[in-house]
Amino acid sequence: MMEITFSLSEINQVAENLAKQLDKPCCVAFHGEMGAGKTTMISAICFAMGIKDNLSSPTFSIINEYHLPNGNPFYHIDLYRLKDANEAIGAGVEDCIYSGNYCFLEWPERAKALWPENIIHCFIESVDSNHRKLKLIL
Ligand SMILES: Nc1ncnc2c1ncn2[C@@H]1O[C@H](COP(=O)(O)OP(=O)(O)OP(=O)(O)O)[C@@H](O)[C@H]1O
Ligand SMILES: [Mg+2]
Repeated sequence: MMEITFSLSEINQVAENLAKQLDKPCCVAFHGEMGAGKTTMISAICFAMGIKDNLSSPTFSIINEYHLPNGNPFYHIDLYRLKDANEAIGAGVEDCIYSGNYCFLEWPERAKALWPENIIHCFIESVDSNHRKLKLIL
């Protein structure tokens, strides 16, 4: 368990710490309200992992595929626009989750049925306009 409150100016430090803890491919569910900072934190972790692709929010693309320095894919997925697990399967989300690669999910509760047994949970909430509280449950 890790719990930390941080400002945007400290986000890269926090992301480096998280990247160290998430040192093997895993599936991480990022929980938090709209605007909590899920995409911002995932982008910072990607940067800390050495991903050089253009990072964006997958709100409309659903699945963004980035590449780690070792060439392996990293999936950044946003389930916000999907209704349920069946729609997620149709969009190719299940294949990403069970591919053995990193798979970071925003709005994971849209498709609980697809959560792998060893999913890691990360909760982000707004404390004030500049501060966010993050809880990582490994
Ligand atoms: N400490 C902080 N950490 C992360 N984001 C912060 C922080 N302080 C301010 N912000 C701002 O909060 C906003 C978070 O937006 P972001 O798109 O990351 O949220 P989200 O949780 O992905 O939302 P959505 O559910 O719509 O995808 C950004 O504008 C970001 O600059
Ligand atoms: Mg987002």
